Amino acid sequence: MPTLEHSQAPCRIVVLISGSGSNLQALIDEQLENKLLINIEAVISNQPGVYGLTRAQKHNIPTHVLAHKDYLDRASFDKALANTIDSYQPTLVVLAGFMRILTPEFVRHYTGRMLNIHPSLLPKYQGLHTHQRALDNQDDIHGVSVHFVTEELDGGPIVIQAIVPILQNDTVDSLSKRVQTQEHIIYPMAVNWFARERLAIQEDTVLLDGEPLDKTGHQIDSRTT
Ligand code: GAR
Repeated sequence: MPTLEHSQAPCRIVVLISGSGSNLQALIDEQLENKLLINIEAVISNQPGVYGLTRAQKHNIPTHVLAHKDYLDRASFDKALANTIDSYQPTLVVLAGFMRILTPEFVRHYTGRMLNIHPSLLPKYQGLHTHQRALDNQDDIHGVSVHFVTEELDGGPIVIQAIVPILQNDTVDSLSKRVQTQEHIIYPMAVNWFARERLAIQEDTVLLDGEPLDKTGHQIDSRTT
C-alpha cells in the first residue's frame, strides 16, 4: 500500500458528542502525533457544559452547543445540526458518544460518510445499558463496534470490532473501562482508514483496501493481543 501522506490533504472531520469525550480525546491525541490524516474542524454537543467541549477548547477546536431541548421537535433539531455541521464542509462526521436518535433525513444526508462507535459486539445489544446486559446474560465476551450509520439504530455496516473478555468478578464499571480502552484504539484506526480512502461500502458490505470484510468487520481480539 503506497503512502499517500504527501499527496493527500487531511480529511475534514466534525465530531458530535454528548458527554466526556474520551473518544474525541483519542482522535485529538493521534492527530497531534501525526498518526491520523485528519483535521478536526469542529466539535458539536447537544449537551451544554460537558467535558468533551473543554477537551476541544483546550486544543483550539471550534465548539458549538445545540441543546436539543431548545428545538420544537427532532426534525428541527436535526436540521439545525446539519446546517452547523455542513458549514465546516466535512468529509466525515464522527459520532463519539452522541446520544441522540437521528431522523432518517439526517442519516440519509450523511450516507457513507458518518461513523458511530457503540459499546457492544453488534448486532448484539443495540441501544442502551450494553455492559449490564452482557453481564446479566453471563456472556463470556463483550466488546465494541465501529460502524457506518444507517437508518437502523446501531445497525449499519460494521467496520471494526474489538472483543473484550468478561472476567469473573466484572462489574459494569470494570467492564466498561476495559471496553473503553479498546474504543480508543479502534475508533482512530477506523477514522484513519476512512481518511486514507481505504474504506468503501458496497451495498451492506464494507470494503477495506478493496477486500470485503465479514459482517462483523475487521476483528481485534484483546484476549490475544
Ligand atoms: C462510549 O463508550 C461510546 O461507545 C458510547 O458512549 C460512550 C462515550 O464516551 N456510545 C454509545 O453508547 C452510542 N450508542 P466518551 O464520551 O468518553 O467518548
